[in-house]
Amino acid sequence: MSAAQMPGEERRVKVGTLGVLGAGAMGGALLRGVLRAGLVPPQHVWVVEPDSSRRQQVQTELGVSVLAKAGPELGQCQTILVAVKPQVWEEALEQARPFFAPKVRVLSIVAGVRTQQLAARLPAGATVVRAMPNMPALVGAGATAICGTTGAEAGEAETEALAVAKEIFGAVGRVVQLSESALDAVTGLSGSGPAYVFLMIEALADGGVSAGLSREVSELLAAQTVLGAAQAVLETKLSPAVLRTQVMSPAGTTAAGLRVLEQRAVRAALIDAVLAAAERSQQLGAAGHHASVTPHPQPGPGGD
Ligand SMILES: NC(=O)c1ccc[n+]([C@@H]2O[C@H](COP(=O)([O-])OP(=O)(O)OC[C@H]3O[C@@H](n4cnc5c(N)ncnc54)[C@H](OP(=O)(O)O)[C@@H]3O)[C@@H](O)[C@H]2O)c1
Repeated sequence: MSAAQMPGEERRVKVGTLGVLGAGAMGGALLRGVLRAGLVPPQHVWVVEPDSSRRQQVQTELGVSVLAKAGPELGQCQTILVAVKPQVWEEALEQARPFFAPKVRVLSIVAGVRTQQLAARLPAGATVVRAMPNMPALVGAGATAICGTTGAEAGEAETEALAVAKEIFGAVGRVVQLSESALDAVTGLSGSGPAYVFLMIEALADGGVSAGLSREVSELLAAQTVLGAAQAVLETKLSPAVLRTQVMSPAGTTAAGLRVLEQRAVRAALIDAVLAAAERSQQLGAAGHHASVTPHPQPGPGGD
C-alpha cells in the first residue's frame, strides 16, 4: 500500500501508454471510454488499424496516434489491448510481438481465445488478462468479466494488470473478476444476453402495439422499462425476486401478466438459453484451442 492510500481503498494502477490492436466496434468503444474517463491522454495512445477510414477517424476524432501496421512505437506501450477478430488474432500478435516491451501487459477481448494460447505467443515477461465484454460497452453500459492466467496465486504483475483491466473496462460499464473457467458461463449470460433482451424488448413492444399503442411509443416504453428495471436491481441491491413481489398486488394486472409468463415457461426458457449459449461457447473455445496450432482458428463465441 502506498503512503497516500487509505485503508480499503484500491490502489489505482496507471494504464501507462496504451496500444490498441484493432479500432473496430469494440476497440473503438473501449478507446473512447478510456479517453473520456481520462485514464490515458490521447498523446499516449498508439492504435494499429489496417482499415484507413477507421484509422483516420480515430486520429481526427480522438487525437490518438495511428499506425497502419505494428511498428517500433508499440515498444512505448505498457498496456496493449488486443481487439481484433478471432480469425486474425494470431496474425496480429505475430506482427506486433517483436515490438512489445519485455514486461508488457496484454489485455485481450478476443472471444474464445484462452490466456494460455495468448501467453504462448507473447514475450516471456508479458502479463496476460483475458476479458469478455459485451455489446452495450458501445454505449458505456457494458458488462465485462476479466481473468488472469494464474487465478488466486496472482503475482504483482498480474494483480497490476487486472487492476488496469478493471480501470479500462470500468470506463465502459461494470466489471467482475472471475477465474477463466467461468468465462463460458459469462459468454452465455452477459456475452449473448443483450440479444435475449433485444428479443424481449421487441416482443414487449409487439405486445404494446397489439394493445393499441403506436410502434414508436411501444418500443420507447419497452426499452425504458427494461432499462429502469435493470437499474432498480443494481441501485437497490435487492434481489429481482423481491422487487417482483413488490410490484405484484393481489389479483392485480402484474399478477395476471406474470401468470402467463409462468404458464409459457419463460423463466425456464431463459435459463436454458444461458446454458445453451455457455455450452456452445465451450464447444467453440475447444475447437479454437485445437485449431490454434493451424493458421486459421474458428471464430470464437459470444457477443460478436
Ligand atoms: N462486438 C462485440 O459485441 C464483442 C463482444 C465481446 C468480445 N468481442 C471481441 O472483440 C473483438 C473485436 O470485435 P469487433 O466487433 O470490434 O470487430 P471489428 O469491428 O471487426 O474490429 C476489429 C478491427 O481489427 C482490425 N484488424 C484486423 N487485423 C488487424 C491487425 N493485424 N492488427 C490490428 N488491427 C487489425 C480490423 O480491420 P479490418 O476490418 O481492415 O480487418 C478491424 O478494424 C473480437 O475478437 C470479438 O470476439 C466483441
